[in-house]
Amino acid sequence: MYLNNSNVPRRMFRGSKDSQGGFKKMKEPLETKNIGLRGVKVADTRISDVDGEKGNLIYRGLNICDLVVHSTFEEVSFLLLNDHLPKAEELKSFQSKLISEREVPDTVYGFMKMMPKSAHPMDVLEAAVPILAAYDPQLHDESRDANFEKAIRLIAKLPNIVAAWDRIRKGKEPVRPNRELTHAGNFLFMLSGSFPDHATARDFDICLILHAEHSFNASTFAGREVASTHAHLYASIVAAIGALSGEIHGGANSEVMKMLVEVGEVNRAKSWVSERLQKGGKVMGMGHAVYHTEDPRASILRGICSRMADRTGDRKWFELTKAIETATKEAFTKLKGKEIFPNVDFYSASVYHMMEIPTDLFTPVFAISRISGWAAHIIEEKFAEAQPKPELYRPDADYVGTYCGPEACPYVPIEERSK
Ligand SMILES: CC(C)(COP(=O)(O)OP(=O)(O)OC[C@H]1O[C@@H](n2cnc3c(N)ncnc32)[C@H](O)[C@@H]1OP(=O)(O)O)[C@@H](O)C(=O)NCCC(=O)NCCS
Repeated sequence: MYLNNSNVPRRMFRGSKDSQGGFKKMKEPLETKNIGLRGVKVADTRISDVDGEKGNLIYRGLNICDLVVHSTFEEVSFLLLNDHLPKAEELKSFQSKLISEREVPDTVYGFMKMMPKSAHPMDVLEAAVPILAAYDPQLHDESRDANFEKAIRLIAKLPNIVAAWDRIRKGKEPVRPNRELTHAGNFLFMLSGSFPDHATARDFDICLILHAEHSFNASTFAGREVASTHAHLYASIVAAIGALSGEIHGGANSEVMKMLVEVGEVNRAKSWVSERLQKGGKVMGMGHAVYHTEDPRASILRGICSRMADRTGDRKWFELTKAIETATKEAFTKLKGKEIFPNVDFYSASVYHMMEIPTDLFTPVFAISRISGWAAHIIEEKFAEAQPKPELYRPDADYVGTYCGPEACPYVPIEERSK
């Protein structure tokens, strides 16, 4: 019995050669599958709801379309971690905590200075988190309050690491955080060393809100799964960062930018896309495992992309992204007989590029936003805030390998094995 018709299991051969060239039976069932857990509900959550049919995304009961108008990344982080919007005093205190936790231990800068300059920023970020763990005075305090404090530290410090690595690899000194700036504005400041204009900082703030949370996506699930073993928050976050780095998850935004550069001109979009799809290749930033209509984040990012184009006085990247979107929709429908839509990574690539963020920093920028959602989920998992009790994730698999019966195959000593 399989849960998803689109993942029809493939038949397997009934046996395989053993080391002696003999033929061994396979254990039943004789079908392989990897359903990617599609459609399997592994837990309940109070944190967010993705309506893939209507194209709605809700954080703790609130529509992201309202949050991007009325809220800030700081407020949304509070919301995700607390299940309610903060009162004025609560927000003030949360913001001051975030500001006071922006500095990282000098050891982190020291480690980065020893890293090869070619190291990928996602690998550097992933490697820096355990150093932060070693300095956390509450590392082994597993109370909810302590986990909340640890979450604040991670939300506050990750932007510093991402910005500092970009500077260190370019032979520059890191820029220390500025207490007067917002979370978003301070990241752009630490990256470039100059103050961002207010409108760009606010647009970046909206990007952070949009990337902060998305239910049981691959990286969040990775983080929750590790947390279910009672590993600490930092270890769970390392797992989430690793999962985000893959090109069909958070890595897609950098790949979109590479594609934009490769296509180069609006008038090449149609032929490039059609050739790509004909060859069975993917158009990065298009399609989604859950949304069957436009990803609401893509709609908002399209608007930001157009605004950024006006602000920079160069509409090239916006027009090119739009042309690839149109070409992909047309070609995909012709080829597969169904629709495809842009996801969160499609327009964020050109937005970040126009904000002068280096292409290989796009995925770490995703991480400095998603950290709020990850932390909220890890806390929810640890304290069973949406379930009767915490549970260790331990899925099952059918064994389809070499099989000689319930007692297993005889062990063949090395000298008796044929080559
Ligand atoms: C995200 C993604 C993995 C979802 O894949 P999925 O759940 O298999 O999506 P679907 O079931 O709708 O895919 C149906 C078909 O469309 C194809 N397809 C989906 N997205 C595609 C894309 N961007 N380009 C080309 N083909 C695509 C699939 O390969 C599949 O083809 P098949 O039926 O021949 O096997 C997929 O859309 C993708 O790889 N997109 C590009 C990477 C990306 O942007 N990732 C970030 C996601 S937020």
